[in-house]
Amino acid sequence: MVFNVILFAAFFLASNFVADATIGINWGRHTAQRLVPATVVDLLLQNKVPEARIYTSQEDILKAFVGSGINLTLTIFNIQNIAGIDLARKWVQEKAQYFEFANIRRVYLGSHVFRVGLTDKPFLHMAIDTLETLQYAINEAGYGDQIKVTFPHTESVLNDNLTRPSDAEFNEAIKEEMARTLRILKQNNAPFVVEVFPIADVAYHSYDPEFAFIDNKSPFVIRDINNTIYTNVFEFIHDCFVWALIKAGVPDMEIIVGQVGWPTDGFPGANASTAERFFKGLLPYVASNKGTPMRPGAPIHSYVHALTDENKMPYYYPFARHWGIYRSNGEPKYKIDLTGQGRDIYPTKAKGIMHMPERWCVFNENTTDTQKVKKKFDEACTRADCTSLAMGGSCSQLTFAQNMSYAFNMYFQANFQDEEACSFEGLGKVVTADPSVGGCVFPVEVVRGEQEGDVAAEGSRLYQMPSYGIFVVLVSMLWALFYD
Ligand SMILES: *[C@@H]1O[C@H](CO)[C@@H](O)[C@H](O)[C@H]1NC(C)=O
Ligand SMILES: *[C@@H]1O[C@H](CO)[C@@H](O)[C@H](O)[C@H]1NC(C)=O
Ligand SMILES: *[C@@H]1O[C@H](CO)[C@@H](O)[C@H](O)[C@H]1NC(C)=O
Ligand SMILES: *[C@@H]1O[C@H](CO)[C@@H](O)[C@H](O)[C@H]1NC(C)=O
Ligand SMILES: *[C@@H]1O[C@H](CO)[C@@H](O)[C@H](O)[C@H]1NC(C)=O
Ligand SMILES: *[C@@H]1O[C@H](CO)[C@@H](O)[C@H](O)[C@H]1NC(C)=O
Repeated sequence: MVFNVILFAAFFLASNFVADATIGINWGRHTAQRLVPATVVDLLLQNKVPEARIYTSQEDILKAFVGSGINLTLTIFNIQNIAGIDLARKWVQEKAQYFEFANIRRVYLGSHVFRVGLTDKPFLHMAIDTLETLQYAINEAGYGDQIKVTFPHTESVLNDNLTRPSDAEFNEAIKEEMARTLRILKQNNAPFVVEVFPIADVAYHSYDPEFAFIDNKSPFVIRDINNTIYTNVFEFIHDCFVWALIKAGVPDMEIIVGQVGWPTDGFPGANASTAERFFKGLLPYVASNKGTPMRPGAPIHSYVHALTDENKMPYYYPFARHWGIYRSNGEPKYKIDLTGQGRDIYPTKAKGIMHMPERWCVFNENTTDTQKVKKKFDEACTRADCTSLAMGGSCSQLTFAQNMSYAFNMYFQANFQDEEACSFEGLGKVVTADPSVGGCVFPVEVVRGEQEGDVAAEGSRLYQMPSYGIFVVLVSMLWALFYD
């Protein structure tokens, strides 16, 4: 028996996980101030990042990666657009020229189709059919060894009463569909992709916040069978999935961590110094190929989330807009060694980014009509990003008037400093003295970059958010993480 286990482990390592773990990065473009693709490719090369995931399969973006040597993961959100073999073949035909020259390795389908599938089975079935046909079309075109189609997953696909990894199994409601998906992945030697957001994962489970960091300082640990000990939430969640895969009959399926990040604002404990600490623990751990208690020595390919902030829509939770390592002006927020060597360095700053002039829009305080002021505040925050005002955020300590100014300025900057965007029916004025308050930065944005592209293509604009209120913030923060 022991012999069998050892034999199995040796086989498992030798057959599946020969390469070293890769540290990639995710780059999304749901933001008004976007870095241009060529700048991003340059940034990745400067920082020696070998792989990237993009949230599109749009041609102008793929073009920028041609010849860079960076391996790419694409995302197709609108699954119905490639449903059925004809559309799948058409997609493959259109993208084929990039398969080689832009080093495409994986295609992720949908946002979290199994989360949606918990309540919408027809959609989930369509998504799985599409996974199968798209991979078929790719195989048919001769790229099956190179390109794998898969779904990203969050913890919501597991049973929700788990207290240790060995409790984990796939959620009863989607077990059958998961079994079918795993069969398709296994046939094609495709990986299982999971997403881990430690700061919110520990909050969700009510674990000690220290358990989010991978530097062995957490007094709280989780013990599992066979004397395994978990000192951080990253290994804990990884091994929950290992157990679920074992129980589903695919114990040797590769697991990739498709998103792992740490926001710098919009959540208690989210700031640049905690983000720095988090990655200082995580990246050398990943690069060490140390593995986890359930898969010792197995490399875990991991994708840092994310390159830049995005004012992601639809609006669910404040910290979602602060995942970026870089601010929109191309400056790094904190030290991070993306090569995993744990060096105390800032990543290279993006080149050629131009700022708008030093102008801000503030509340002129010449009214006593509070109702009107609040109305304008809501209008501004419905269209621009006010998430730093949220509880635990960097601007959560402002006065009422400062709150108004913050909102007005975010709206003004999001509109590239159009004076009209600072009118607010006579309540706003443009100033040239920086109104920032302590650690709460009133940003000046960068000049309008490339605006064409996937934001519109994915059907997303700066559209309506729910009226800004603390209850939305609190309830939706955790809810959205696991159920979106
Ligand atoms: C890209 O992926 C291929 C195949 O997995 C691998 O051989 C190659 O080393 C990767 N390139 C980089 C730059 O990591
Ligand atoms: C979790 O709940 C499921 C279904 O109710 C049950 O079968 C399973 O034993 C429970 N697991 C634990 C660890 O309590
Ligand atoms: C736990 O250890 C026993 C004895 O070494 C072994 O038979 C069993 O497979 C182990 N279980 C796991 C999940 O590793
Ligand atoms: C960042 O968050 C940590 C944890 O809440 C806190 O101890 C620290 O003071 C914060 N740092 C800054 C610069 O706000
Ligand atoms: C500022 O706005 C935030 C977010 O809407 C709110 O939570 C806070 O109470 C406001 N502060 C004041 C002083 O009105
Ligand atoms: C408030 O002051 C600005 C000048 O700063 C002026 O243009 C505007 O008309 C005033 N609004 C009201 C309601 O008095």
